[in-house]
Amino acid sequence: MSTEELCKAVCTVARDAGAFIREERKQFKSSAIEHKGTNDLVSYVDKTAEQQIVKALTPLIADAGFITEENTLSITGKKYEWIIDPLDGTTNFVHGLPCFCVSIGLTYNGKLCLGVVYEINLDECFYAWQDGGAWLNEKRIYVSDTIALKDSLLATGFPYTDYSRMKPYMEVFDYCMHYSHGLRRLGSAAVDLVYVACGRMEAFYEYGLNAWDVAAGAFIVQQAGGKVCDFNGSDNFLFGREIIATNSGIHNEFLGIVKERFNH
Ligand code: IPD
Ligand code: CA
Ligand code: CA
Repeated sequence: MSTEELCKAVCTVARDAGAFIREERKQFKSSAIEHKGTNDLVSYVDKTAEQQIVKALTPLIADAGFITEENTLSITGKKYEWIIDPLDGTTNFVHGLPCFCVSIGLTYNGKLCLGVVYEINLDECFYAWQDGGAWLNEKRIYVSDTIALKDSLLATGFPYTDYSRMKPYMEVFDYCMHYSHGLRRLGSAAVDLVYVACGRMEAFYEYGLNAWDVAAGAFIVQQAGGKVCDFNGSDNFLFGREIIATNSGIHNEFLGIVKERFNH
């Protein structure tokens, strides 16, 4: 199977899980909400979707590893590793707010090589494979060509468990409120990232995220012509729990603002 064919197969897996999540939303009751930790919600929908995804991905690559948010399977140290968030935007999901997705990334020797983010409510499947560019429902997508923060729309995620870096976080927020078109908090890091990839927004920053939140979306941004890094401008965004993604054009300006305030 070529990497492109593999990517299309993963899109089908994501769409199937998305169809399940969409159906469950229709009858979802708040009594089904469980708490993994403070402000960290989950339900049978996340867990069942993840089991379905793992089962469907397993035959696609022999002997692949798995990093999964809901712990269906944890196998690391493999050449290929799937990184899965079965439902990114769980808080939106349980409240019935329509912005949540399935996110599936793949690494080869620790480097991202494929990503699929399926936003369920708008039926938008974003995907990319190594050297294949980035796509949305069979159309090529590219980051925007905006070159100044003052002309940019930005996205972020609010810290909700780790408040240790609230001060620099809010200083960046404050600056961006004054000197951009505005900031959005959509409630799904994967959606934030793919919206940068397709040019709807220029940049995204958040800290405290896990690999499954960013793997697929970050790769799609890169394949769409954008840049992704940590708050220091380095490559450690997958497991480093801090991420900046931009359209390239405003990268240096935005990174400078974040770097200065987070005091790296
Ligand atoms: C969350 C979302 C949210 C981000 C959180 C994540 P979940 O993922 O991506 O936008 O701010 O940090 O944990 O819990 O909905 O899969
Ligand atoms: Ca997530
Ligand atoms: Ca999740």
